[in-house]
Amino acid sequence: MRKVWIGLLVAILFAGNVSLARAVTLTAPQYVFNKATVREGTLLFMDHCSACHSIHSLRYERLETDLGMPKAQIIKSIMLSSNANFLEGMRPTMTQADAKAWFGIAAPDLSHIVRAEGQRWVYTYLTSFYWDPKRPSGWNNRVVPAVAMPDVLAPWEGIYSKNGQVLHRGRLTPAAYHRKVADIVAFLRYTSDPSYFKRHNLGPYVLGSLIILSLLAYLLKRNYWRDVHK
Ligand code: HEC
Repeated sequence: MRKVWIGLLVAILFAGNVSLARAVTLTAPQYVFNKATVREGTLLFMDHCSACHSIHSLRYERLETDLGMPKAQIIKSIMLSSNANFLEGMRPTMTQADAKAWFGIAAPDLSHIVRAEGQRWVYTYLTSFYWDPKRPSGWNNRVVPAVAMPDVLAPWEGIYSKNGQVLHRGRLTPAAYHRKVADIVAFLRYTSDPSYFKRHNLGPYVLGSLIILSLLAYLLKRNYWRDVHK
C-alpha cells in the first residue's frame, strides 16, 4: 500500500512538472504600489480597456475616497459609460450584446482578476500578444491561445510575430511600454483589494494603541504584584 501512495505522489509531482514546462514563464511587473501609480493605471485603464471590460465590484465613488481623485475628474474622464452612476460599480462603455456580436464572447469583468490569476499572469498576458493572420481578429496570445481579445495596446507596443520579430515598431520604447502595462496591473491589483490603502493607513495607529495598552497592562501588573510581595 505504501508503494502505491509513493507511486501516486511521484506521478502527481511529475504531472505538475510537465504542465509547468509547457506553460509560459510568467514575469513580474515592476512598479511602486502607491496611490499615484494606481491613479495613473486607472486613467490608462479607462482609455484602453473600459470600452469592453467592467469593474463591477468597485464603485466610482471609491476612486475619490481611496485614491483622492477629484470628483469632477471622475465624472469627466472616468464615468464614460452612458449609464454610469457615481455610487455604482464601474461599467464598460460597450454593451454586452455588441461585445458578443463583435468578439464572439463578452469581455469578462476584471474586478478580481489579480486575486484570481495573480499579477504576474495578468502582466505576462498583456505583454504576450503576437500577430497571427490565421485568427479572425489577427491576434493571438502565448498565455491564452486563440484569444478573443485584440491587442489594444499594439500602437504603443508595436506588432510582433510569433517568434518575436518586430513587424511594426510601436510609439513607445519597450521599457516605457512595460511601465504603462505595470501601472494598469497596479490598478487591477487595487480593484482586487480596494481596502489596501485604508488598511495600511490604519496599521500604525492599531500597532501604536496596542503598544500603549501593553504598557498600561505592565504598569497595572507591577502595581498588583507590589501588594502581593509585601
Ligand atoms: C475590444 C474589446 C477589449 C478591450 C478594449 C480590452 N479587452 Fe481584455 N478581453 C476582451 C475579451 C473579448 C476577452 C476574453 C478573451 C478570451 O477569453 O478569449 C478579454 C480578456 C481579458 C483578460 C483575461 C481575463 C480572463 O479571465 O481570462 C484580461 C486580464 C484582460 N482582458 C485585460 C484587458 C486590459 C488590461 C485591457 C486594456 C489594456 C483590455 N483587456 C482591453 C476584450 C477586450
